[in-house]
Amino acid sequence: MQPDNPYCTKVSEITWQQGTPSSVEFDDSYWSQGDPTKEKQWVFPGQHQLPARAQQADLIVLLELGFGFGHNFLQTVALWEQSSTTAQLHYIAVERSPPTLAALKRVHALTKTKASTRLLEIYPVGLAAWHVVWFTDKVRLTLIFEDAQTALPRLDAKVDVFYLDGFKPSQNPELFNQFIFEGMQRLAQPGASASTYSVAGVVKQGLRAGGFRIEKRQGWGRKRELLFAQAPGDWRGQRLKRPSVQIIGAGIAGQSLAGSLNRFDIQPIILADPNHPGASSQPALNIYPQLSLQRDRQSEFSIAGCYFALHNQERVQCRPLHWHSATPAKIQRMQRLSQLFPDNYLEQIGNEAIYHQAGIWRSLPPAGLQGAKVCELKPSKGQMRLYDAAGQALSQADVTLLAAGTGMHALTSLALRNVRGQSIRIRSKHTLPEFLTGDINITYLGGQDFLVGSTYELDGSDPQTRLLDTDRLISDLAQTLQHRDFTLDSPHAGIRTVFSDRVIGAGLLPAHTLNTARMDHSIGQTSGPAPACYALMGLGSHGATHAPLAAEAIVSAVCGAPSPLPRDLAHSTRLDRF
Ligand SMILES: Cc1cc2nc3c(=O)[nH]c(=O)nc-3n(C[C@H](O)[C@H](O)[C@H](O)COP(=O)(O)OP(=O)(O)OC[C@H]3O[C@@H](n4cnc5c(N)ncnc54)[C@H](O)[C@@H]3O)c2cc1C
Ligand SMILES: C[S@@+](CC[C@H](N)C(=O)[O-])C[C@H]1O[C@@H](n2cnc3c(N)ncnc32)[C@H](O)[C@@H]1O
Repeated sequence: MQPDNPYCTKVSEITWQQGTPSSVEFDDSYWSQGDPTKEKQWVFPGQHQLPARAQQADLIVLLELGFGFGHNFLQTVALWEQSSTTAQLHYIAVERSPPTLAALKRVHALTKTKASTRLLEIYPVGLAAWHVVWFTDKVRLTLIFEDAQTALPRLDAKVDVFYLDGFKPSQNPELFNQFIFEGMQRLAQPGASASTYSVAGVVKQGLRAGGFRIEKRQGWGRKRELLFAQAPGDWRGQRLKRPSVQIIGAGIAGQSLAGSLNRFDIQPIILADPNHPGASSQPALNIYPQLSLQRDRQSEFSIAGCYFALHNQERVQCRPLHWHSATPAKIQRMQRLSQLFPDNYLEQIGNEAIYHQAGIWRSLPPAGLQGAKVCELKPSKGQMRLYDAAGQALSQADVTLLAAGTGMHALTSLALRNVRGQSIRIRSKHTLPEFLTGDINITYLGGQDFLVGSTYELDGSDPQTRLLDTDRLISDLAQTLQHRDFTLDSPHAGIRTVFSDRVIGAGLLPAHTLNTARMDHSIGQTSGPAPACYALMGLGSHGATHAPLAAEAIVSAVCGAPSPLPRDLAHSTRLDRF
C-alpha cells in the first residue's frame, strides 16, 4: 500500500504509557491516565440529559468529532441499552486517523462488554469512507473515516447533541476552528447541546461565534472545568415519519427497501410480478466493491455500499473472494489497484488477489409479499393507488417505492438499458475454487453445487436461457479448471439494467417520469402535490453490493432520519440528473 493514497486513512501513531494511548502526531493522550470510562461518561453523555430527551423524541441525532477508541460511543450505547427508550440513536462519528484494530483490541480487552465486542466485530478497515451499521436495533452508527473539515459539509443531518473530543486545541487546530464551529451551526437543531473537556479561548470564542451560548461546568479529575454549549432556540425532540409504504418489486432492491423500512418499524406492502422473477433470482449474487485506480464517487459509493451490504443483512455469508485472471493487462491493473488498499482489504498474492471484504447474498421472499403485476399508478387523495392489468386496485399508500428492475421500462420514462446475462449451476465431485472472480465467477452453493457466471450482452432482453451461452460458460470453466469433470445442473438467465452513465438511480422519482401516473390528469392539478414516489434502479451487475445502502438512504429520507450517504454521493445518484 502506498502512503498518502486517497483511499486510505492516515495511520495514527500511538505510544502507550501504562496502558493509556497517546498520539505521537498530536502529542496528547486519548484520555487521562487510567480507566477512561468515568471521565468520558462525565464529560460527554453525562452532560446532555440523554435518557430524558430520548423520552421526548423518536430519534436523537448525535455527532461526535474524534471517535478515537469509541469510548464515548460505547458509553452512549450503554445508556440506550439501560433505558426503556424506544427512540433511535443515530450516532455519527468522524475520525481522521482511526486507531488500528489491534490498538482497539488492546484497549477494549480490559472491559470486554457485549458492546465493545460488537465494536471490534464491525470495526472497519482503515479506508477513508463512510461506514454505516445498525449497531443494535435502536442504534445506527455512521462512522466517517475522514477529516472533520471535509466531512461536516458533506453531512445531511439535524443534530441534537455534539461531542467535541479532539486533542488539546493548541495541538489540534484542525478540529477546533471557525470552519468546524460554523459547520456545527449549520447542522444544529434549535436548542442542540454540545460538550467538550476544553475551556480554551479558541473553543469558547468559536462556539460563541457559531451562535452557541456557552457555560462552564464542573470538569473531571484534574480538569476543573468543562464547556457546555447550546444552540439558540428551544430543543424539541425530532419525530420520525412513518407513512404507509408500498414497494413494487421484490428483487434485491425491493428486499433491501423492505429491510430498511422494517428497521424503522414500517411494514410495507410488497407487490411483485409472479411471472417475472427478475435478475435477483440468480441462485446467488456476489458482494464485493467496485474499485477504480482514481478515487471517484462510484468507488467511494461501492466501498460504503459493500460495508453496509455485508454488515446489515441476515442473508449474507461473509467470505474472502479470490481473484484470478490470465490476461496480462488485467493482472497489471489489479497489481496497481491492490497497491492503493490495505492488505486486509485487497491483497495481492503473485498474479492473484483476494478481496477480504466480500460475501454472498441469496434471495428470500420478504414477509408480506403479494404476487401481482402493477400496470398502473394513479394518485388518489394524497396517496398512490396501484392497479393490475384488469384495472383492479391492488393497494394504495402514502409513499410508493419503485424497484421493478426491467419492469421500470414500463413504469417510468427514464432511459434504462438492458444487459442480458446468464449463469449455470453445475455439480462437481472435485474440489473447485469456492469463491472466485476475475475471468470467471465461481460461487460455492453447498453440497456439490457451484454457480458459474456470467455472460454480458448489452441491449439483450431475452429472458430465456440459451444453449450457446451455456456452452460458452462450460468451456470457460473447463479452461479455468483444466478439466471437464463436472455436470450441468441448470442454466439461469436474467436481465440487468443500467443508466447510460453506469451510475445507479436512487431517490425521488420526478413526477413527469412516471408513465402511468402521467395518464391521470389529476396529478399535480387538483389534489395538491403528487404522492411521493421514490425509485431504486439501474443496479447493473452489482445490485447486491449497492442496493442495501441506496435503500437505506431512500428510507432515511422517507422517515426523516439522517442520510447515511454524503450529500455529494446522494446527489450523484439522483433521478432528475437526466
Ligand atoms: C447472470 C447474472 C449474474 C449476476 N451476478 C451478480 C452478482 O454476482 N452480484 C451482483 O451484485 N449482481 C449480479 N447480477 C446483477 C443483479 O442480478 C442485479 O443488479 C439485481 O438483481 C437487480 O435487482 P433489482 O431488484 O433492481 O431487479 P430484479 O431482481 O430484476 O427485480 C425486479 C422485481 O420487480 C418485479 N416487477 C417488475 N415489474 C413489475 C410490475 N410491473 N409489477 C410488480 N412487480 C414487478 C419483479 O417481479 C421482481 O420482483 C447478475 C445478473 C445476472 C443476469
Ligand atoms: C481525544 S481523541 C478521542 C477519544 C475518543 N472520543 C474516545 O472515546 O476514545 C481525539 C481524536 O480526534 C481525532 N481527530 C483529530 N483531528 C481530527 C480531524 N481533523 N478530523 C477528525 N478527527 C480528528 C484524533 O485522530 C483522535 O482520535
